Amino acid sequence: MEVKKGLNKVLVTGGAGFIGSHIVDTLIENDYDVIVVDDLSSGKLENINKKADFYLCDISSKTILQDVFEETRPDYVVHHAAQATVIKSMSDPVSDVLVNVVGTLNLLELSKEFNIVKFIYAGSGGTAYGNPCYVPCDENHPVNPISPYGISKHAVEHYLNFYYDQYGLDYISFRYPNIYGERQDPLTEAGVISIFAKQMLKNKEVIIYGNGLQSRDFVYVKDIARANLLALESNNIPSGIYNLGWGEGTTINMVYETLNQIIKYKKNPVNKPERKGEVYRTFLDAEKFRKYTWWKPEVSLSMGCMYVVDWMKRNL
Ligand SMILES: NC(=O)c1ccc[n+]([C@@H]2O[C@H](COP(=O)([O-])OP(=O)(O)OC[C@H]3O[C@@H](n4cnc5c(N)ncnc54)[C@H](O)[C@@H]3O)[C@@H](O)[C@H]2O)c1
Repeated sequence: MEVKKGLNKVLVTGGAGFIGSHIVDTLIENDYDVIVVDDLSSGKLENINKKADFYLCDISSKTILQDVFEETRPDYVVHHAAQATVIKSMSDPVSDVLVNVVGTLNLLELSKEFNIVKFIYAGSGGTAYGNPCYVPCDENHPVNPISPYGISKHAVEHYLNFYYDQYGLDYISFRYPNIYGERQDPLTEAGVISIFAKQMLKNKEVIIYGNGLQSRDFVYVKDIARANLLALESNNIPSGIYNLGWGEGTTINMVYETLNQIIKYKKNPVNKPERKGEVYRTFLDAEKFRKYTWWKPEVSLSMGCMYVVDWMKRNL
């Protein structure tokens, strides 16, 4: 793999959040200078690596963002700041667009102006493919977002393509699976592993909706951070959309069992009626990204769950 030399400044938006903060750690471990842009709306100050330069900044305000670009002159942008909640996007689609679309456009305009080498984007496989026609979904699977969040995350993929076509801005647009790991807030909707782990550790009720046979592609966050590093460093990946995932589903019952073996939870789960609109089965084919980078997830579900439980014991 060919690596571009001498370019080492990375601006990470959302670097105080769950996924972004792990990417920041990975970049710093690999000797990059990292600038974190985050408004701390859901991210936390304590998540930010001490070696990063932090700018408290809302990406929907271009003037402030412009000052950050002028002062720091980054080589790359790794964009993870977002209004990341489906439910919130339903009740307030306008705020969702202001951050997820307008905020991203501000970054793209500045990336064009400041000659950014590559732009990496955190898209969503789960919401792009909706209820899949086939699994595992590859990048050619029809896109059918059914929430304002899914729509705004997908709209950005078109803008990325536009900036590439029109201005030559290279990009990698990931479609993420269900990501889990340390620092994931158990209150977020994607975090079933964090939610179950927290409930079990507190010896509280664990609720499984439906029969628990719904399946998802759960990938440990540091595997995702490694994919971002590869995307940034490889010169041979064509700009475009890339799924990440195992290509296999894990059921909610399997998640429950895996955590149960680690925590030795004494209670039985409580089964409640399935939630309306919930996708039954979704997992992603990451062969396209693997072809260029050899990336595949390395951390098994049981290992990843052990890391989460360990972290929760220290942080709850
Ligand atoms: N967690 C998943 O499984 C998953 C799946 C698919 C896609 N994604 C995407 O990955 C990215 C990171 O998600 P996450 O799970 O780490 O969420 P998160 O909420 O932990 O991180 C988002 C970060 O963005 C910051 N932010 C929000 N609005 C901002 C604004 N206007 N200006 C500056 N910063 C702002 C928040 O403070 C937070 O630190 C998001 O773009 C999300 O859509 C996540």
